[in-house]
Amino acid sequence: MPMIRVEKILEEPELYILRIDDDQIKYFEATWDIPEGITYNAYLMKTGDAVILFDAWKTDYTEQFLETLSKIVDPKDITHIIVHHTEPDHSGALPKVLEANGYKALVIGTSFAKRFMEGFYGEKIVENFHAITDGEELQIGGRTFRFITVPWLHWPDTMITYVVEDKLIFSCDAGGGYGIPETIDDSDEKVVEEYLPHVTKYIVTVIGHYHKYIVENIKKLKGLGIIEEAKMILPGHGLIWRKDPLRIFKHYEDVGAGKAKKGKILVIYDSMYGFVERRMKIVIDELKKHGYNPVVYRFTDKEAPAVSDILGEVPDSEGIVIGVSTYEAGIHPRIRYTLYEMLDKANYEKPILVVGAFGWAGVAGKEIEHLITRSKFDHVDTVESRGMPRTEDEERIKEAVRNLIARLS
Ligand SMILES: Cc1cc2nc3c(=O)[nH]c(=O)nc-3n(C[C@H](O)[C@H](O)[C@H](O)COP(=O)(O)O)c2cc1C
Ligand SMILES: [Fe+2]
Ligand SMILES: [Fe+2]
Repeated sequence: MPMIRVEKILEEPELYILRIDDDQIKYFEATWDIPEGITYNAYLMKTGDAVILFDAWKTDYTEQFLETLSKIVDPKDITHIIVHHTEPDHSGALPKVLEANGYKALVIGTSFAKRFMEGFYGEKIVENFHAITDGEELQIGGRTFRFITVPWLHWPDTMITYVVEDKLIFSCDAGGGYGIPETIDDSDEKVVEEYLPHVTKYIVTVIGHYHKYIVENIKKLKGLGIIEEAKMILPGHGLIWRKDPLRIFKHYEDVGAGKAKKGKILVIYDSMYGFVERRMKIVIDELKKHGYNPVVYRFTDKEAPAVSDILGEVPDSEGIVIGVSTYEAGIHPRIRYTLYEMLDKANYEKPILVVGAFGWAGVAGKEIEHLITRSKFDHVDTVESRGMPRTEDEERIKEAVRNLIARLS
């Protein structure tokens, strides 16, 4: 059963996190395998005469949300509801909250958010809606709330809230990650170290299609000076950042820019009967011989790694090797899907080497080469041959690996 955590995170202003640990979910957005689960974080602030709710939980947990909220405040007393992003993992419980509130609260969000909320939940929910303009400030309960749009982190509707006097950033999806960390904040280094790979996987699978906007939006926030001075980052998923608030945006920036870890080479392949695998052993040995660290994901008749995990490995890899078999005059289905998602979600300027095996006419390698040359990836070479690798194939593969290495900066 999902665990619910409510903690007071600040005395002045009085601020609470309402977090539910979704350990029931299997596929985020009905696609991405997340055995690690995810949390939905909402926040509640009491300041002066105002009671402000920041986002909510997923629709499935509406009942639990109302129950949890009611332990801190009578929903009727909520004066403002800030909607950073209308994706239903954050907005799903809001229709019931507004109903319990008697529709008295002023709902604040972007004009996109207003349109999307109306589309998802009907006209009534946006009757009392204030659409902000980028950078607009509102005085609420004696504090200054600045709203900053961060389009495409994760949808066009997305914004963050900066509470000026207290230097708090409510960042919703930006700064979030998969996983159910044991703590609510970044106070424990061990928890942070375990959590960060889930953040990378989250960034690539959820925001990856728009990853250039990560870099752009962080640049925008830096230009406003708010990242450097932030005392706390409060995302809609995962850990709160208060020991080292800069760290999470630095991580986002690195993933957005595809900053590589020295020596890491991602090796992905399928092998139905072992011929591709024999080639990949040559690749792996050659990489190791030159001091590289191959991180290997293989699709066989015994293994099928999650594509979401593979995608999470791309941003910090220096280079990639894809091993593929030709399957019905095309790319093996597992590699086809992996590659399709990689080109869409993890499209970085990194070198790729393609190694293929076929039975009668090699097609897969050439098809992959064609796809790569139309992406940001840098195609190094395609080495494709029939059946069992011969001595000359082995030499060609080793040479291609050395060519890949030569491309690494
Ligand atoms: C279902 C299936 C479809 C295949 N389709 C083709 C094909 O269209 N063209 C081809 O040259 N080889 C085809 N092959 C042969 C494989 O590409 C070849 O056996 C290759 O060496 C497989 O590598 P593996 O042993 O690592 O699975 C096919 C094999 C299977 C099992
Ligand atoms: Fe989202
Ligand atoms: Fe989200």
